[in-house]
Amino acid sequence: MGAVILGTGSCLPQKIVSNNDLEKLVDTSDEWIVSRTGISTRRISGKGEATYQLAAGAAEKAMEMAGVDADSIDLIIVATMSSHMLMPSCACFVQKELGARNAFAYDVNAACSGFLFALDSGDKYLRVDKGKKILVIGTETLSSRTNWEDRNTCILFGDGAGAVVLEYQDNPRGVVASNLFSDGTLWNLLYMHSAPSCNPDLQQPDNPGAHILMEGREVFKYAVKAMEGAIQDLLIRENIDLDAVDLMIPHQANIRILKKLVSRLGIKKEKVFINVQKYGNTSAASIPLALDEANREGRLQRGDLLLVCSFGGGFTWGASLLRW
Ligand code: ACO
Repeated sequence: MGAVILGTGSCLPQKIVSNNDLEKLVDTSDEWIVSRTGISTRRISGKGEATYQLAAGAAEKAMEMAGVDADSIDLIIVATMSSHMLMPSCACFVQKELGARNAFAYDVNAACSGFLFALDSGDKYLRVDKGKKILVIGTETLSSRTNWEDRNTCILFGDGAGAVVLEYQDNPRGVVASNLFSDGTLWNLLYMHSAPSCNPDLQQPDNPGAHILMEGREVFKYAVKAMEGAIQDLLIRENIDLDAVDLMIPHQANIRILKKLVSRLGIKKEKVFINVQKYGNTSAASIPLALDEANREGRLQRGDLLLVCSFGGGFTWGASLLRW
């Protein structure tokens, strides 16, 4: 009894960048990157692959699977922190691109947790306004916000988009419950400056540019603990045993975070969907991208219990349970 996912879609840039390619940019190696992160390749966007264009591509596929056209979409929520403009929102560009004339549209920025937060907003909206159809999209082109001279960060991220179409259904399917958190006191462990301000009063002389900056080890520590806590709390609150979960789709940050999380939870690793090796960390796009891949591979059957979880800048984190 909540927002049911009618269709999933994803869209990836054409260009594949391997670890060997990165060896030409910074002092690193395929062996270091694979052993520390599990990432082998990532996609990097080029011309015609802006954040909103990838989003629209993913949305079209999700709408096709759902069997709905652009005119039937009432709301578009886009989770991103890498839109090509600050204003209008990425969601407005997606609306234009799709020709979704009847939809209102806005962005959510919760960094890597953006999709989970946007999904929760869509679910809550539908519980009040039941007859609507909503597109929830996670889309990023973090390659435009990456310092390609910083080996600590440039090896981690990739570009892409994933989307779902939501509809309220009065049956046991859909979003069961979510458990979301933020802690702004820890902002300085993972952040990205905005572009220098035009207002002289707000100019930051030490602004290093709109690049991602991170205390990797601290992020690692918090990410595992926070996601584990959010999941355990949610399961207890909903009186659901971990064994009842059929598939877990975590935010694809890196393989060591995921392995640690899986071992602390005690969930069977066959139940955990992982594609970080192919796409790297695509931030808000990572969960819907993985969800679409899992769905198209037939990993989800009607009635399955799906667990998703994420962690990102803010810090923001959380977990959701969905009945497929
Ligand atoms: N290639 C080779 N060497 C490198 C590289 C690289 N790409 N990057 C760092 N190093 C070096 C460091 O300079 C350091 O060298 P030193 O010992 O001479 O000083 C050494 O490797 C160890 O560096 P650490 O930062 O301590 O390496 P660590 O084992 O912590 O791994 C990593 C780094 C992979 C970033 C890890 O901390 C991590 O996974 N953190 C989580 C970060 C993350 O996933 N962020 C994404 C956003 S948040 C999210 O999505 C959850």
